[in-house]
Amino acid sequence: MKLFSSVNDVADIKQLVASALALKANPYAHSDLGKNKTLGLVFMNPSLRTRLSTQKAALNLGMNVMVMNMDKEGWALETQDGVIMNGTTVEHIREAAAVMGEYCDILGLRSFPKLQNREEDYNEEFFNKFVKFCGVPVVSLESATRHPLQSLADLVTIHETWEPYRIEAKAKPKVVLAWAPHIKPLPQAVPNSFAEWMSRAQAEGMLDFTIAQPEGFELNESFTTGAKISHNLDEAIADADYVYVKNWSSYKEYGKLLDFPEGWMMDNEKLKLTSNAKVMHCLPVRRDLELASEILDGPNSLVIHEAGNRLWSAQAVLKAMLEEIK
Ligand code: CP
Repeated sequence: MKLFSSVNDVADIKQLVASALALKANPYAHSDLGKNKTLGLVFMNPSLRTRLSTQKAALNLGMNVMVMNMDKEGWALETQDGVIMNGTTVEHIREAAAVMGEYCDILGLRSFPKLQNREEDYNEEFFNKFVKFCGVPVVSLESATRHPLQSLADLVTIHETWEPYRIEAKAKPKVVLAWAPHIKPLPQAVPNSFAEWMSRAQAEGMLDFTIAQPEGFELNESFTTGAKISHNLDEAIADADYVYVKNWSSYKEYGKLLDFPEGWMMDNEKLKLTSNAKVMHCLPVRRDLELASEILDGPNSLVIHEAGNRLWSAQAVLKAMLEEIK
């Protein structure tokens, strides 16, 4: 694998999930694979889980790791061609990415959308230019439209926690992506990516997938092919085995904070409608705004387990990349 930016870069998702779980069972089985190889992690935006889990994953594979907090410590980057750089930008992405490629065997990049220009964000201009100019394999640490390491960890978590409890009467879990309230317009990267990965998993017979959101919060259709769509949370979560809670802002009214109806926060009352569902969230989460504390602190919450699986997911992806560049 030379690029990990979406589920479309993965030939076999079941094999990648199995690889992550094998690494979880035996973290140091490939501790020589990354010897004398360097991973560079470039952050244009804040991170806790992605930064630490990817770093640890690389260390488990014997890699060296360098982290660059470009937003705080780097030069201000110019991304447009043909501009006279007489403003605030100091270095062009052409040189910056190419130089990082000189120092690293694999690069990771986090670059959030600006949520100002939908076309620009959905064209992934920054991410794609970085990939083009750095000249080495790249793993997305969350781009403008996708967060594939998160989605892989989510699929690993569902597969891992469902398999031991599956019963013949219900061989596949019902997974619901449930919109949640927020006070800021957030990117669509996590729900886009989750929808894309779950749709693929559904197509491969691993689960049934539903998306619930208020009117006006529909995701870009290219990410939700095959998903059942509902505008009624209570109906959507009936008999659910997993509820994946996440806020996102409107794709249609791009970048705007829209009004939303009451009753979209998951709490213990809503949990009663489900099939004793496990509740997931990518974190960070705003307690009692997006998701009730009583769920986060209760037995149905998978959020810490899910965050823990970020490590094995990142390790599986880096392992697949190292196996190609060795
Ligand atoms: N879920 C996730 O990507 O967390 P961070 O933003 O803290 O990396």
